[in-house]
Amino acid sequence: MSTKKDKLVIFDTTLRDGEQSPGASMTREEKIRIARMLERMRVDVIEAGFAIASPGDFESVKAVAETVTDSRVCSLARAVNADIERAGEALKNANASRIHTFIATSPIHMKYKLQMEPEDVLQRAVKAVQTACRFTDDVEFSLEDGSRSEPEFMYRIIEAVIRAGAGTINIPDTVGYGEPEEYGAMFRRAIENVPNSDKAIFSTHCHNDLGLAVANSLSAVMNGVRQVECTINGLGERAGNASLEEIAMAVQTRQDLYPVETGLDTSHIVPTSRIVSSITGFPVQPNKAIVGANAFAHESGIHQDGVLKHRETYEIMRAEDVGWGQNRLVLGKHSGRAAVRARYGELGVDFSSAEEFQQAFARFKDLADKKHEIFDEDLHSLVTGGESPI
Ligand code: KIV
Ligand code: ZN
Repeated sequence: MSTKKDKLVIFDTTLRDGEQSPGASMTREEKIRIARMLERMRVDVIEAGFAIASPGDFESVKAVAETVTDSRVCSLARAVNADIERAGEALKNANASRIHTFIATSPIHMKYKLQMEPEDVLQRAVKAVQTACRFTDDVEFSLEDGSRSEPEFMYRIIEAVIRAGAGTINIPDTVGYGEPEEYGAMFRRAIENVPNSDKAIFSTHCHNDLGLAVANSLSAVMNGVRQVECTINGLGERAGNASLEEIAMAVQTRQDLYPVETGLDTSHIVPTSRIVSSITGFPVQPNKAIVGANAFAHESGIHQDGVLKHRETYEIMRAEDVGWGQNRLVLGKHSGRAAVRARYGELGVDFSSAEEFQQAFARFKDLADKKHEIFDEDLHSLVTGGESPI
């Protein structure tokens, strides 16, 4: 009997919603570096930024769009022409692009923030999607604060934007207010009640204000959602977004529960997590699931004894499947150019000339004299001029 699973689209927004974390802003080069790692992990969609937000963000989205070939590159745009045109311009050289346009649909946002009538919001949403379709064949529409919106109004907007050309419908839990059962049921009802719901992929986007972002996302998947929006290390506004690594490994580890597969190469998770942490300066807590330093460490004698007898007594995943201990080559003072250059390549760093590499290699040797082992974070600091975490 065939057990073919549905594809779960992984939409990473580390470079957009993750960057909206206070203090986490990234340069264009840093975004390119992270985007390359996400591409290597086989993330389906990389939201590279919000092109209209600043000239720097426009350049970052453009540069990521011109660098990445295997993942689709996306820019956020409010449901206004200027935003959508700017996003279209930034993405015009992408191999595959997406414009992600949004407007708030909850009573509180429409009344106080937008100061618009619901009917005008609906018209604006349709027009935004039609405009975005002029720039790309892949348009996503988000109902901001969707989890606090009136169901009947949501159904009408969703039906109308799908008719206008949106291929993905995202219903975010913008303020992290949702609860798993309720948030999942909201999707099930939306899919049942919107007459043309089969023409679009439904998407979840959860914030972690109550610590429920991953649980809410997984509940949405259980109820028909086939795209998850998430970030590396759960980086994001306020308490953060749903964490990519937790969702990916929950789906993979509990294949008995989730009728989907991601297609991710999960062995890139830990190296990517470490680079995101090093670039943003946001440390990963030791007990963080999957990517925390203690996630696969066993301290107690009883656990150590159990693991030695049979790994699965206390381990539900293999550390190497998420990239722990994958650093096959330990870099130190005896390492040569080839190993250092190869590791830089894996980290997405391209040197523009032999001389530029030679300078980095000389700095590497200096540091290796002072430090037993050189980690990815050190390599990153050597090329960005940042502090090396000796
Ligand atoms: O949290 C949110 O609602 C968002 C939207 C722009 C998708 O980030
Ligand atoms: Zn968000």
